[in-house]
Amino acid sequence: MAGTWDELVQQIKERLDIVEVISEQVVLKKRGNNYWGLCPFHKDKNPSFCVTPHLGIYKCFSCGEAGDALKFIMKTRNIEFKDLIIELADRFGLEVPISHRKGDSTIKETKDQMSAATMVAAEFYHDLLIRNKDSNAEIALNYLTKRGIGNDIIKKFHIGVAPKSYTTLYDELRKDFSNDILEKAGLILKSEKGGYIDRFRNRVIIPIQNENGDFVAFGARALEKDQNPKYLNSSDSLIYNKSRLLYGLYTAKEAIKKEDSVILMEGYFDVISSQAHGIENCVASCGTSLTPDHVKLLSRYTKSRRIYLSFDTDSAGQKATTRGAEIIKEVFAGLGDIKQFDESYVSSDKDKYACEIRVIAPPEGKDPDEFVRSVGADAYKMYMQNAPLFIDFQLNSILQDKDKYSTPQEKAQLIKQIIPILSEIKNKIIRSEYIDMVAQTLSTDPDAIRSEIRIFERANLPQVERIVKNVTKNDSVLKKAQKNLLSVFLVPDSPFTFTQINEMIGDTTFDDEILINVKSTIDKLIYTVNNVKELIEHLYTEFVDNADAQTLLPELIAISEVYRGLSDEDFRSVIKETINKINHCRQIKETEQIKKLYKGIDDDDPEALKIQIQLRDKIKKNRQKIGEI
Ligand code: CTP
Ligand code: MN
Repeated sequence: MAGTWDELVQQIKERLDIVEVISEQVVLKKRGNNYWGLCPFHKDKNPSFCVTPHLGIYKCFSCGEAGDALKFIMKTRNIEFKDLIIELADRFGLEVPISHRKGDSTIKETKDQMSAATMVAAEFYHDLLIRNKDSNAEIALNYLTKRGIGNDIIKKFHIGVAPKSYTTLYDELRKDFSNDILEKAGLILKSEKGGYIDRFRNRVIIPIQNENGDFVAFGARALEKDQNPKYLNSSDSLIYNKSRLLYGLYTAKEAIKKEDSVILMEGYFDVISSQAHGIENCVASCGTSLTPDHVKLLSRYTKSRRIYLSFDTDSAGQKATTRGAEIIKEVFAGLGDIKQFDESYVSSDKDKYACEIRVIAPPEGKDPDEFVRSVGADAYKMYMQNAPLFIDFQLNSILQDKDKYSTPQEKAQLIKQIIPILSEIKNKIIRSEYIDMVAQTLSTDPDAIRSEIRIFERANLPQVERIVKNVTKNDSVLKKAQKNLLSVFLVPDSPFTFTQINEMIGDTTFDDEILINVKSTIDKLIYTVNNVKELIEHLYTEFVDNADAQTLLPELIAISEVYRGLSDEDFRSVIKETINKINHCRQIKETEQIKKLYKGIDDDDPEALKIQIQLRDKIKKNRQKIGEI
């Protein structure tokens, strides 16, 4: 029995897991009780997008966008509430009340029909090929056999053939679908004479499935040598977005999960041949270069996010490798932990949210399709097992030409290419190892390389950091001292208990609203939490809706790192000095204010003299106090 609409909405809300929903679009990293990522609603450089699972909400602390799982889907997919509920009811097998069933969204109907037409077309082309129903079938079968593609593979990938004639598909499908639907699905084109013709003709048809296995588009390879273009692809449509879809994912996803890694290739046939030869965890983009959405899609299937790039070994392929790695790094930027650049590569099972980029580039050249067919799948797997990290691949490809650079000037030029790569390495030890390795290979001074890296880094300080630095500079000394004092609570392994710290702070007060707020929350929390980690987690939760606090907390945590490892005595004196500083600043501030007042007094006012004398005394007193401090 269908319940009410509100009940349905409630049931759907209960079934939606906000982390799962958002992970489809955003790479999330768990921190405390929350998940953080780069905000999909604005150009985010550092993760300011926070998902709080137990409240079922998300919020971006930078652009302010916030809501629940349903709102997130509506915003990112630009879909109406009612349409979304009906779609989700469908997915969860829930019944939609009759009152809301009729007049179902026309978009949904259109999409359903487009999907149906695409599926029928895929079956039609496939049938023509395997039942040898068209004169082109023979030619296509010969072509595929030459490429090592037999019946099994044809069936697994639903490969088909498009005849030479102009309207074979149209004549078949027009019986069941409107011109509008067929055109929207990219199956037919308006001809110059006014009628419609098939979009794909005289080609091998490679149907493209989305990750659920629905047929949504086609890649079509020319059958003849001089036929252009070599590949004709479906355009984007209501059911196909090539920047979000990866060819082969539907057949590869189990293997990607099992192997906990994925191989990114360039072409349809690379994927087809590899999967057919037992390398199942591979996918390709469909006639576009890799996009951030592709990477996000993949990161949902591999926990360790191990991504192999296996592009052509020509110079275009090399460029695609570099660009691909950049895209992957961009997606993970701010979340840190790109394995080759930091220590999480060493303690690999610790950080599940890192990613690892490796490159498969056999010296034989060839694309994966040709390689597995001519050299073999086992050899390919060997190269995969020994695939270098992207950083090693990059350094090797630069260093392999080292003999061409022999004069000091040429060497400096070569090293200039290496500096930006080395500067990406966060872990100082790993960085140092690489510097020594490069210095040794080029017989040059590692310290000179170090110094070049410093120059490079100074010149390339990220814009955001510069802004932060300026802001901190303008931040009054008083506020800074108060932040320092507050951060003392967050020092990991501090020698004192929370209560002891509170005693040391005594009645020192805070001026800023947010600092006051955080301090009073800390005062409450210290009676319920067991350690600093819990305190931080609870603070994040308490202030989930407070943008100022969400900016302040990471800052306090960063400051607290500075106090780490201090002895009892040092810790105590740090607190004392900070309190002194705060008092000192307060006195100065008060004096400044009095001075201002003093200047503003009207000398002709009979009361003025009295006030002036009082103020002078006050300033004097303050000066003395400052002197004491
Ligand atoms: N591609 C495309 N349009 C083209 C050429 C290429 O969309 N005109 C896309 C296809 O997805 C193709 C991929 O880019 O699979 C790689 O192109 P390329 O290396 O030129 O082709 P191969 O996959 O090697 O194709 P084949 O082996 O059939 O020659
Ligand atoms: Mn090829």
